[in-house]
Amino acid sequence: MHKLFYYLLPAALIACLSGCARPEAGDPATGAATSVASNYQDAYRPQFHFTPRANWMNDPNGMVYLDGEYHLFYQYYPDSTVWGPMHWGHAVSEDLVRWEELPIALYPDSLGYIFSGSAVIDHDNTSGFGTGGQAPMVAIFTYHDPEKARAGATDVESQAIAYSLDRGRSWTKYAGNPVIPNPGDQRDFRDPKVIWHADSESWVMVLAARDRLQFYGSPDLKNWTYLSEFGRQYGTHAGVWECPDLFPMTVEETGETKWVAIQNINPGGPNGGSGTAYYVGDFDGKTFTIDPRFARDVTGERAVWLDHGRDNYAGVTWSNVPAEDGRRLFIGWMSNWDYANLVPTEKWRSATTLLRRLTLHRTEAGYRVYSQPVRELHDLRRESFPVAARDTLLSGNFTGPASAPASPPLAELELSFLLTEGRQADFGVELFNDHGDRYRIGYDGTKNAYYSDRTRAGATNFSDKFDATIAQAPRLATGDTVRLYLYLDVASAELFADGGATVMTEIFFPERALTELRVYGTENGVAFLGGTAHRLGSIWGGSDQ
Ligand code: FRU
Repeated sequence: MHKLFYYLLPAALIACLSGCARPEAGDPATGAATSVASNYQDAYRPQFHFTPRANWMNDPNGMVYLDGEYHLFYQYYPDSTVWGPMHWGHAVSEDLVRWEELPIALYPDSLGYIFSGSAVIDHDNTSGFGTGGQAPMVAIFTYHDPEKARAGATDVESQAIAYSLDRGRSWTKYAGNPVIPNPGDQRDFRDPKVIWHADSESWVMVLAARDRLQFYGSPDLKNWTYLSEFGRQYGTHAGVWECPDLFPMTVEETGETKWVAIQNINPGGPNGGSGTAYYVGDFDGKTFTIDPRFARDVTGERAVWLDHGRDNYAGVTWSNVPAEDGRRLFIGWMSNWDYANLVPTEKWRSATTLLRRLTLHRTEAGYRVYSQPVRELHDLRRESFPVAARDTLLSGNFTGPASAPASPPLAELELSFLLTEGRQADFGVELFNDHGDRYRIGYDGTKNAYYSDRTRAGATNFSDKFDATIAQAPRLATGDTVRLYLYLDVASAELFADGGATVMTEIFFPERALTELRVYGTENGVAFLGGTAHRLGSIWGGSDQ
């Protein structure tokens, strides 16, 4: 048994994190279908992640920037808290932190449900949808025909477009839909992500077709030509590929341009169920080729997981981010198809992840994509506390109000540890209560891996697959200093370790308040270098909460 040392965080932080009152959100002026009142105080409701006011959500869709607004559309079923006929819900943010939920953007019709896809601003009006010099916002999505699906047909899914001339508030579906009919033999044929490929002056679509990526090109978003496919000899093929992405990035260390292809897979994720992998290579407007210097993951596989946690899925990146900003912005769905329909939330189901900035690095192991939460989230900081090093051990009784529904802290933690002789250390951050419930996220030196342990964090029996295993993520960095950068939001943890080299996103459902927070660690193999804890505010109900 390891002997543990504990660094307890200041009482003021814990007490307020758990129980600070938040005023009710005002009554937002939205359309009927989404105007369900909510004070965002329900059990497990995240306080700084987007959730729909009510009912079911899954993938983020059509993320696009326009005129000061970041649009987030998402798979939405307004009539129930379980998956059903898909619509595109809609929310906007001006600051990448606070979200305003708007009326539903796209409704299912006779061609089927509106599955995942993307949106672009057609600056040159190649589609002809623009009028009076105004560039249209064009959504590219999958129609999923439920009747064909029920009948066991294979040509169930096809690609379609719609446009908006009023900043995404109202939409017209193209009369010539579908723009890419199902070829007839592809049961899974969906989730188009479209980009403008400047060199070939054409639109390029990446599509998930069974367990491959397919590329299509178009001059006008209406007429598409098949270009190529990727993936047969790469990645894992244990499940269906979904929600792809394709974009160029500048390598931070060398200034070269490389292309990144993202591929989501379900099942077959790194810790079971859903997961997101990526590849680094080149794209010439037609074909994606993997770079021989692309890192292999620890199993030797030519695909690396963007996030090793169980709860980051279907994420893709924003379109039309202003050049002067230049960031590659990513958001995922914070759940997993293994249990998404069963998690014990009542009014709504599922949240997005935090918004992340992706960067591309040339590491000793090869090219790797890192993820970091966007700096705009610092705006949520309300109070900051130093977390003392070992010789200034803090102590005390940190029990918060046990009945508070939003029991675990709203916190951002920046902590550093030094691996010392043997490196056989076990350390991390623990949320706990005096009933013996606990959630841990940390590092295990015997495995050189980060881990998330929700086995004793509360409810697990709502699904056989929300199981009792501990999720693990190989440490990709090699230095002696381990940096844990962590966001905790009621029922979720997002770990960005070693500057974003290894990422884990996990949700959990404490039945009794986990009101206390501490940094734990073994006596040997590690020295705690200290850090900072920030109490964060809520994004619902006023900027100062
Ligand atoms: C991914 C996914 C997509 C599909 C959508 C349906 O989570 O299965 O492939 O378009 O969800 O809601």
